Amino acid sequence: MFGKKKIIPKIDQEQLELITYAQKRISQKKRFYGHVVFFFISASVLLIFNIFLKLGANFTVLEIPWSIVVSIVWFLFVIYHAVKVFILNAFMNAKWEKKQLEKLVDAQKKRLEKLKISLEKEDKHIAQSKDFNKNNMQTIPNLTLIVATAEANEIGKNNDLIWRLRNDLKRFKALTSGHCIIMGRKTFESFPKPLPNRLHIVITRQANYNVPEGVIVVNSLEEAFTKIPETEKQPFVIGGGEIYKQAIPYTERIELTKVHANFDADTFFPEFDLNQWKEVNNEFHTKDENHDYEFSFITYIRK
Ligand SMILES: NC(=O)c1ccc[n+]([C@@H]2O[C@H](COP(=O)([O-])OP(=O)(O)OC[C@H]3O[C@@H](n4cnc5c(N)ncnc54)[C@H](OP(=O)(O)O)[C@@H]3O)[C@@H](O)[C@H]2O)c1
Repeated sequence: MFGKKKIIPKIDQEQLELITYAQKRISQKKRFYGHVVFFFISASVLLIFNIFLKLGANFTVLEIPWSIVVSIVWFLFVIYHAVKVFILNAFMNAKWEKKQLEKLVDAQKKRLEKLKISLEKEDKHIAQSKDFNKNNMQTIPNLTLIVATAEANEIGKNNDLIWRLRNDLKRFKALTSGHCIIMGRKTFESFPKPLPNRLHIVITRQANYNVPEGVIVVNSLEEAFTKIPETEKQPFVIGGGEIYKQAIPYTERIELTKVHANFDADTFFPEFDLNQWKEVNNEFHTKDENHDYEFSFITYIRK
């Protein structure tokens, strides 16, 4: 009662059937080989006694000595036995085959069922993502991209701005102060120090990028979005070129300063489809003593 429990190895029904079948075949073959040996020995003995020792020499069937007749009949039995073992029983019997077929059909049915479920899931997922795009649900609430571009979308050179427009800098400060600003590592490095009164989120692929206290470092734009404080009502993406390009699909608003001039540049704002955007504000400014170029403040919101 308290002895060690006997471990019974688990084998499934199919394996059990195969083992039973193999055992059956082995004993069938053994019996057949025994039969053949027994036949040869017995037939030889009978022939020796009948033909050489003349035992029952007068007893014939159709003038054939009885030992030969017995040997031929017995040989026919041996052939019948061989046919039974090697041909009729060579394949698993019909019952076994039927059972295997049923199992196979069952397995296929289960596989089809699984496939159907996964296809349904995929369809649902595709449908959801279509709705997602249609409703612009993938955008980050009120994410605003703020940028100053010249006529050919120039935005910077040698990791610096190309122009200085006092009102544009003022506007940048007014709009972004008190907010979270997301930027690429290069743009961050273009500042002499972090901008006051703004939460900086810097994107880099570097593992141990050092920043002053209070600055958040992330390894992707998507990770940057997870760092936007819950209380933030209008997070900003402030550049540069690489980050603007990746951020446009997530953006709901663009604050653009269009500088009406052309410059030599190495960094550009990406082309974006104006059909998806509605211009809601456009203020033109002329040149003056503080502004070397004409420019416009334009606001777009996603349609
Ligand atoms: N006119 C404007 O309004 C304006 C505004 C901002 C900036 N700018 C100008 O734009 C230029 C800088 O722009 P930029 O395109 O060269 O650089 P950037 O976008 O500021 O920064 C690029 C860096 O960001 C990191 N990064 C980019 N994508 C990433 C991702 N998916 N995952 C992780 N890290 C990623 C990489 O940093 P690591 O190399 O460290 O991995 C990459 O080298 C400067 O000239 C600047 O003055 C102009």
